[in-house]
Amino acid sequence: MLLIGARWISWESNHPPIGKCVGDCYEAYKIEDAKRREAEAAMLATASPADLGKKLFTACAACHGLGGEGGVGPKLQAQTKDAIVSMLTQYKNGETRGAQSALMWGQAAALSTDDMANIGAFVESL
Ligand code: HEC
Repeated sequence: MLLIGARWISWESNHPPIGKCVGDCYEAYKIEDAKRREAEAAMLATASPADLGKKLFTACAACHGLGGEGGVGPKLQAQTKDAIVSMLTQYKNGETRGAQSALMWGQAAALSTDDMANIGAFVESL
């Protein structure tokens, strides 16, 4: 026993427990993590389509601007939800709209019908 104890102590001193989270620490982490997940689920359940669209729009902001003001891609502000959904559907179908449509094909391919409607709702709210 003593030997095992001594070996443990020496292992510990050779490997300081930096960032180690076991036992009580891990139990506390699990509780905090469950709370965080619950809060996130509650937020998503009550989120409006525009809120959900805003979340998706982070992937678009680099080219269209955080507020849809335009940049590499055209300005999206002041466009209606229906127009946005219709254009995204065209891109998703691989259709050419402007000279740079190829930049949008990959973007739109990943979007579901719900995603497009949510993004449309967000853009319309800008
Ligand atoms: C790599 C840059 C880039 C990213 C990222 C990007 N876009 Fe675009 N987007 C463009 C370009 C460039 C065009 C013009 C394409 C053309 O010539 O048809 C465009 C066109 C559009 C149009 C048509 C606008 C109009 O008035 O004709 C919509 C709608 C659109 N993008 C939405 C999105 C959404 C939603 C996302 C995120 C899921 C996104 N884009 C991500 C570059 C980008």
